[in-house]
Amino acid sequence: MIPAQAAMNPNLSRLQPYPFERLAGLKSGLNPPPDKQPIALSIGEPQHPAPPFVADALVAHLDGLSRYPLTKGSPALREAMADWAVHRFGLTAGSLDPERQVLPVNGTREALFAFAQCVVDPTDRPLVLMPNPFYQIYEGAALLAGAEPGYLNTLEEHGFLPDYDAVPEAGWRRCQLLYLCSPGNPTGTVTPLEVLTRLIEKADRYDFILAADECYAELYLDEDRPPAGLLQACARLGRHDYRRCVVFHSLSKRSNLPGLRSGFVAGDAEIIQDFLRYRTYHGCAMPPFAQAASICAWRDEDHVRENRSLYRRKFTAVLDVLAPALAVARPEASFYLWPRTPVDDVAFARDLFARQHVTVLPGSYLSRLSGGVNPGRNRVRMALVAPLEECVEAAWRIREFVDSL
Ligand SMILES: Cc1ncc(COP(=O)(O)O)c(C=O)c1O
Repeated sequence: MIPAQAAMNPNLSRLQPYPFERLAGLKSGLNPPPDKQPIALSIGEPQHPAPPFVADALVAHLDGLSRYPLTKGSPALREAMADWAVHRFGLTAGSLDPERQVLPVNGTREALFAFAQCVVDPTDRPLVLMPNPFYQIYEGAALLAGAEPGYLNTLEEHGFLPDYDAVPEAGWRRCQLLYLCSPGNPTGTVTPLEVLTRLIEKADRYDFILAADECYAELYLDEDRPPAGLLQACARLGRHDYRRCVVFHSLSKRSNLPGLRSGFVAGDAEIIQDFLRYRTYHGCAMPPFAQAASICAWRDEDHVRENRSLYRRKFTAVLDVLAPALAVARPEASFYLWPRTPVDDVAFARDLFARQHVTVLPGSYLSRLSGGVNPGRNRVRMALVAPLEECVEAAWRIREFVDSL
């Protein structure tokens, strides 16, 4: 008997449908009013213009097409990344070695995924802890690495942070990797420095790795209060080797360059060197022209300040319209709103689309049932990525919709 299909990695079947696949299913067959322009607040894709000087650098380095790049990236690129991180997080000068502690990646998505494949030991009943709701890659990465995902609910009554004290001792013992997301997607919550330092102590005690996804670290609403980062927490502890700690940073949100696919990982030299070894086989070097463009982006702050001020204006304008109608708070960072819905989140998203041609993402598509609670239920995610006028128009339509419920 010949099997119908060749044997596949069984973990593939453990992957959940991606939220946008579910959203497309939810919207199919609906007929939104054609006189209303569609507005999508569903996808976290930056839409502010890419900085022209980065595009210029990209074009100026097209001669790189005829070279194979190194997985490790150029020294100039790693230096630009290290300099940025040292400056941004107030690290001791020279404490982040561009040679051994920094590695370029093609956006943090692939890196967050690949990282679990590199560090998880599948033979030891591994647990990979993550916030819930969460960026979907953490879960897929854990499953394909042969681990069990452990979901840590981020509930409003706990400041939208996981209740780390509620993780049982047995959970910490099995934990091999903990994904942190700060500022958080979708809540915009910043993990305080004191929580980060406590987690570092936990990581030491139970011997696991902290992977801090900090790709929204540059989109904060109070210009005087940039979010803390994991390397900064290490520095506060005098832990200048960043042992067990790795951070993930990206140009996608900071610089409006999601198409460039550029970011980096930095931290513990031993882990970074093992990750480099993994990536050499994985085959994911950053193209030379993208490296050159990235250097310019990491070395400029003016465009990032301008980017933040654009988001700030959008939050103010949109919240002025929405606050009287919805339970919604201004986040500390990110470009998301995470309001509570007066009805079931899936029905809310469906009917909002059907009646107002505005797409939002049901919160429960981003989270799992854990401890009897689905923390995304009765919430939706709205990404304020469209131009200001469009975001405000969407806000008015949402308000009209809520008022009609
Ligand atoms: C929390 C979070 N992490 C990582 C990423 C991946 O970003 P990129 O691969 O563009 O760096 C995203 C993208 O939306 C995200 O929301």
